[in-house]
Amino acid sequence: MVQRGTFITFEGVEGAGKTTQVQRLATALGPDVVLTREPGGTPVAERIRDLFLTSDGITPMTELLLIAAARAQHVDELIRPALEANQTVICDRFTDATVAYQGYRGGIDLDLIHQLNHVATGGLTPDITFILDLPPEIGLQRQQRAETHRDRLESEPLEFHRKVREGYLFAAKSETHRVKLIDATQSPDAVHAALLTEYHKYLSQQKFF
Ligand SMILES: Nc1ncnc2c1ncn2[C@@H]1O[C@H](COP(=O)(O)OP(=O)(O)O)[C@@H](O)[C@H]1O
Ligand SMILES: [Mg+2]
Repeated sequence: MVQRGTFITFEGVEGAGKTTQVQRLATALGPDVVLTREPGGTPVAERIRDLFLTSDGITPMTELLLIAAARAQHVDELIRPALEANQTVICDRFTDATVAYQGYRGGIDLDLIHQLNHVATGGLTPDITFILDLPPEIGLQRQQRAETHRDRLESEPLEFHRKVREGYLFAAKSETHRVKLIDATQSPDAVHAALLTEYHKYLSQQKFF
């Protein structure tokens, strides 16, 4: 296999600490890191993100197709070239979010979601995925405390976010090799330390291949 950079994704319910932790990990890993997010990450995909987050009455299928379109652009234009240039890519949400939001919450068939994820990514999968696991009520409390502007999905009722968490737990159980479940109720320092440990474990395993 051609050597390429490590692809790391972060997942979890709103307020789990993804944005906080992607930044901390990027700082810890040094300058050769590309930090990005989904939906979005490139100008075209960010326009799709705006449409996605501000449209009322959007159906789960429309969500799925918009997300897939944004992801195809993001992978082709930014993620794959960066990995091929041997950079580490850290992405705030990726394909597991589609399983959790459009599959578990939106009720779309998981086989279809896996197929579309495969098409949109051209078969690219993360090397490590951190799911920051947290009861959604704590995540929503954190966001209320921070008084940030709440987008369409963040304003959904608690039941919505419970289904999303269930979807993430399912993803963690079905791919234990790639997906690392991190207890996000811990302090930011403890979460950062836990995921750094997992990252170094991953790197040391790579040496044997
Ligand atoms: N481990 C933590 N414990 C307590 N508060 C946290 C923790 N991690 C993040 N926060 C705070 O919770 C809020 C949401 O965090 P954020 O990183 O934006 O989450 P996300 O990107 O997953 O929605 C922010 O105000 C952040 O400072
Ligand atoms: Mg965030």
